[in-house]
Amino acid sequence: MRADGIIIAIDGPAGSGKSSTASAVAAALQYRHLDSGAFYRAVTRAALDSGIPPERWAELTRDEVDALGVGAAPQGPAYRITIGGVDAMEAIRAPEVNAHVSRMAAVPAVRDWLFGALRSAGERGGLVADGRDIGTVVFPDAELKVFLVCAPEERARRRLREQGIDATDTTEIHRETERLTGRDTADSTRAVAPLARAADAVLVDTTGLEFDEQVNAILRLAEHAIRG
Ligand code: CDP
Repeated sequence: MRADGIIIAIDGPAGSGKSSTASAVAAALQYRHLDSGAFYRAVTRAALDSGIPPERWAELTRDEVDALGVGAAPQGPAYRITIGGVDAMEAIRAPEVNAHVSRMAAVPAVRDWLFGALRSAGERGGLVADGRDIGTVVFPDAELKVFLVCAPEERARRRLREQGIDATDTTEIHRETERLTGRDTADSTRAVAPLARAADAVLVDTTGLEFDEQVNAILRLAEHAIRG
């Protein structure tokens, strides 16, 4: 057992509810929550703001990524992301970030740059981390790995509700489904650290589950893993 508890890795496709679920699981266990997607979003936001054209991102060096000024500081049970020292928690959720983040997440120098920071967040354990490659690459030694899946249309409905858009409008659902599945394909087929279920990850399908039910399902698995 690590000093502050086990590591729980939650991976899954866009809109499967990883971050909100990971945050609730962390709160119930009094663990820290690490939303790794937020870091890829912050690098994307910073590159867009600096005017670096997306066609150049693949050639970014580690020094150039470093110069983008993305930072994170523990705040309560989570991390506050900053760009150039300024809070970026809202700016990283903008639609243009959604549209470009998969391209940035495929850049080897970016993943390289983040890997050390993400790993060190888990040094003492007591962590719930969510993303695409947490159970496969970042914490292959996590005591509990969960892979969340959910039907694409239901993920689209949840994402629309989150954004305050009418989630019964079939045209909107169709558009959002296309955006989500486009990102899934990009994330699953890239060469480095693709979205994948670790062989030892427990599959949880949240399509028919209420939020509390999916949190409780993971908490039951966590209790078992904590007991060893
Ligand atoms: O919340 P949502 O599922 O839409 O996405 P996110 O978790 O905020 O992640 C945004 C993007 O970052 C994903 O589409 C991936 O391209 C990338 N990502 C990644 O490559 N590896 C991770 N461990 C986490 C996110």
